[in-house]
Amino acid sequence: MQYILETSCYPREHELLKQLREATFDKYQFWSIMNVPVDEGLLLSVLLKINAKKILELGVFTGYSLLTTALALPADGKITAIDPDKEAYEVGLPFIQKAGVEHKIDFFHSDAFSVLKDLINNGKEEGSFDFAFVDADKENYINYHKLLVKLVKVGGIIAYDNTQWFGSVAEPAGGDGGETFKARQKSCD
Ligand SMILES: C[S@@+](CC[C@H](N)C(=O)[O-])C[C@H]1O[C@@H](n2cnc3c(N)ncnc32)[C@H](O)[C@@H]1O
Repeated sequence: MQYILETSCYPREHELLKQLREATFDKYQFWSIMNVPVDEGLLLSVLLKINAKKILELGVFTGYSLLTTALALPADGKITAIDPDKEAYEVGLPFIQKAGVEHKIDFFHSDAFSVLKDLINNGKEEGSFDFAFVDADKENYINYHKLLVKLVKVGGIIAYDNTQWFGSVAEPAGGDGGETFKARQKSCD
């Protein structure tokens, strides 16, 4: 994995994504692991090659995945980005601005449920999104999915972060479901 990161991923990371990642680490230390890793960011950019223009992002934090998707979208692309934590968004915002992609982002300082429900209730947005990336509260993924299948068009993509909880689903039976997470935490101590 380290070999792939060093030879394929870090060399392709946009300079402002690198700066955002470093600023997130400076402020949040261990919890900077909430940013999607560079390899996942590159995968998101590839998935957006379905000609995505209008997308949803649930769970922004400091905006690593948001800046990734904003850079990958065309100039007239639009992202509806939702997070109740505006302070974290503001840590990443200067890098989004410096990258010249802020105009592609509508940030909703809110929980994702109410925004998704409003989009459905306004009667104009169903089937209008090309892509959704969900990286918010994991226990609600199933509930978000029920709303997202209405909002994302047939042939679009709904991508979920970390559904396997740091690989813990592959741990031996009897494990506490958190060994991989703890190992990662230890490596950041
Ligand atoms: C893992 S972080 C997102 C990381 C981000 N995708 C990135 O790459 O930097 C999870 C985020 O989900 C947000 N969140 C938690 N509950 C939420 C909800 N109900 N609706 C929207 N966002 C929520 C948290 O505030 C947190 O910023």
